Amino acid sequence: MLISFAAAVVALAHHASAHATVFHVSVNGKDQGDGVDKYIRSPGNNEPITDLADPALVCNVKGGTEVGSSVKAAAGDKLTFHWWHYNPDDPNDFPLDDSHKGAVLTWIANYTSSDPTGPIWSKLAEEGFEGGKWATMKLIEKKGAVEFSLPKALAKGKYLIRQEIIALHKADGPGGDPATDRGAEFYPSCAQFEISGDGGKVPDQDFDFNKDYKYDDKGLFFNLYIPFDKYTPPGPRPWKG
Ligand SMILES: *[C@@H]1O[C@H](CO)[C@@H](O)[C@H](O)[C@H]1NC(C)=O
Repeated sequence: MLISFAAAVVALAHHASAHATVFHVSVNGKDQGDGVDKYIRSPGNNEPITDLADPALVCNVKGGTEVGSSVKAAAGDKLTFHWWHYNPDDPNDFPLDDSHKGAVLTWIANYTSSDPTGPIWSKLAEEGFEGGKWATMKLIEKKGAVEFSLPKALAKGKYLIRQEIIALHKADGPGGDPATDRGAEFYPSCAQFEISGDGGKVPDQDFDFNKDYKYDDKGLFFNLYIPFDKYTPPGPRPWKG
């Protein structure tokens, strides 16, 4: 009796400590259905990544290798990634804890069936702090939905699109030292796409998360608890095609 009660408490605690991940994607408002382990390289667990050298910083999966299908979309389409905390079918669940204030960035890379680490990524979209609101607050208001558009000029082909929440609630100190428990928390999620269109532009920013994100980047080491004028997300400005 005691053991099963303890197990139930552990199970609850586990659920309560889970964090946001992407469960499905829409193309021009049309839901593409459950993507977990189908077209999304889903994490075994969705705990945040805090170590910038960890390959899981890219897709939150150790060895984020390919899954069975890809979402079909066209250059210029409007895409929506749908985030949820634990279970999108549970009416008592929510997209993200509102203490987790921060940025939401979207990136693209040529398709690779293997772990998509290395200098292959270009930024497609970014939302930081605008009009007095963090991107994560907008994500919560929109029930986990984050929208962005594919550039019309994007060349057809297979791609990976990675969206990440960068939570800054502990970023008043730089990351990199587990003893201090400070630094940005990353929640990345990667989905597979097959893009059509007659554009000819290939994303070319060659960004490498494990090398180009730095603990002292102003977008990652940022105190949101004191007044500030401006927040600039880490990485280059978005590629427009
Ligand atoms: C992506 O693929 C295109 C077309 O094959 C190629 O021209 C380009 O160099 C590739 N980009 C990267 C970063 O490898």
